[in-house]
Amino acid sequence: MYRTHSNGELRLENLGEQVILAGWVQKIRDKGFMVWVDLRDRYGITQLIFDEDRTSKVLIEQAKALGREFVIQVKGEVIERVSKNKNIPTGEIEILVKELKILNKSEVPPFTIEDKTDGGDELRMKYRYLDIRRNPVKNNLIFRHKVAMEVRKYLSDEGFIEVETPVLIKSTPEGARDFVVPSRMNKGQFYALPQSPQTFKQLLMVGGMDKYFQIVKCFRDEDLRADRQPEFTQIDCEMAFVEQEDILNTFEGLTKHLLKEIKGIDIDKFPRMTYNEAMKRYGNDKPDIRFGMEFGELNEVAKHKDFGVFNNAELVVGIAVPGGNSYSRKDIDKLIEWVKRPQVGALGMVYVRCNEDGSFKSSVDKFYNQNDLANWAKVTNAKAGDLICVLSGTATKVRPQLSALRMEMATRLGLRNPKEFAPLWITDFPLLEWDEETERYHAMHHPFTSPKIEDIELLDTNPGKVRANAYDLVLNGNEIGGGSIRIHDKKMQALMFKHLGFTPEKATEQFGFLMNAFEYGAPPHGGLAFGLDRLVAILGGQETIRDFIAFPKNNKGRDVMIDAPSAIDEEQLKELNLKINL
Ligand code: AMO
Repeated sequence: MYRTHSNGELRLENLGEQVILAGWVQKIRDKGFMVWVDLRDRYGITQLIFDEDRTSKVLIEQAKALGREFVIQVKGEVIERVSKNKNIPTGEIEILVKELKILNKSEVPPFTIEDKTDGGDELRMKYRYLDIRRNPVKNNLIFRHKVAMEVRKYLSDEGFIEVETPVLIKSTPEGARDFVVPSRMNKGQFYALPQSPQTFKQLLMVGGMDKYFQIVKCFRDEDLRADRQPEFTQIDCEMAFVEQEDILNTFEGLTKHLLKEIKGIDIDKFPRMTYNEAMKRYGNDKPDIRFGMEFGELNEVAKHKDFGVFNNAELVVGIAVPGGNSYSRKDIDKLIEWVKRPQVGALGMVYVRCNEDGSFKSSVDKFYNQNDLANWAKVTNAKAGDLICVLSGTATKVRPQLSALRMEMATRLGLRNPKEFAPLWITDFPLLEWDEETERYHAMHHPFTSPKIEDIELLDTNPGKVRANAYDLVLNGNEIGGGSIRIHDKKMQALMFKHLGFTPEKATEQFGFLMNAFEYGAPPHGGLAFGLDRLVAILGGQETIRDFIAFPKNNKGRDVMIDAPSAIDEEQLKELNLKINL
């Protein structure tokens, strides 16, 4: 037997018991005739004491020879500590060691394995297995497990069946690039790794599986950000014989269940907002609604004077920053620089100070009088003491710019409370999205999403205005899920492919299997997928998903621990009939 107890378990009730413990040496304190060792495992830390008088000289010499991260096993007696540590659950006892066995030695670790470490990001990633011994990383992985278990429990209780779908497939167009895998047996041909199991889950509906889910790895070759990894995990779901309303209700239920079970929070409000409304009120299709600072559109109250910048703009729009009038001139100048950074891209910013006495002072006093500015304050809902920040330009550019400012100000003002959770649905997304680069329309969600029946005739006349039966689940300003009601009719699917610029031949080559399946009684169906990594990170009060993934990639898409991607040898290349041309 390696151990009778874990290192997080023993208490005063266990006094006098003979126990066996095993774990890693976290810390050694050597007082000459006495040595203390902190022994760590997944469950906690227990203090060991080696005492010349009460045990043996040999044993104390052995203890002195231990090093950090040695793996040891000890036999000893649970005794009461003289100086107790109230900060840890085992802090009232210690183990008087009678036998010590070194199970394995360790090199000196490259960083300290404690809650606050001296290891930088790269180093911790290179030695991720050591990083996982630290509480913050370990606890995140345990937290992820709990969320995944609750998801499985809820969906299974609701009658969903988990079905695995293949990983070596043909490209699924979800908007990113595919990772591809060459086939040895089919020379010159490639599999693609799934960007999602989208087409398979639709085929499962044709197969009568009715309610499907899968916690599944997806792969997308796209630029990385804090909330994006090249391989990530979805909670992928699909249901047959449902309307949008059924799907929203089911997954509202799952979200509420998770918030209750994981965070102990009862959610009573689960608002829904159309895409157009979200863009108008927040300039963003994933608004954080935990705080106000809603957009006020100022065209009507700002375009009647001689200020050319506003007069020539499609949209003049502002937000009221609470308490922002306390900003100095220098602070405001810095804010203007901030919105002009390339990442935000505004050309400038007009501001209005809302003084405590009800008067206003703006950067455009030359053009606007107190009455005009009072109207701006009304539209942006500004109070005395606030600062109104106004941007102008084309609506598609200015909304994301002001949204970035809104989020930045909320962060600075501490309004994005990680302990508060505000989910909402965004519905009625546009079906198509114009792509400047290729000069054609793309499916905003994916090509299997059904348009709203009442908008179908616009497909020929004004494709950008066609709305889809598509929805996103947003939590605290993050898109944590998205889905749609699917097309289940072959003719409609062919029409969609046509509008997306596929020739009938190309559509058949890529999606013939799905169109064929639609010949054999495809039921009406729809679904969605949550991003598990994002969901877990946000429930954990953070937004960087890397910290919730056991072995993540860095921002260049590399696994620095195993050193991947890497070259393969000539022999392998030859077998795959591949030539590298660099
Ligand atoms: P979508 O592309 O919206 O939909 O993806 C669903 C959810 O997956 C998460 N996500 C990511 N998480 C981490 N890293 C990434 N690179 C990444 N990309 C996406 C997001 C997102 O909301 N097949 C459809 C779903 C459906 O229609 O049922 C799909 O994949 O949280």
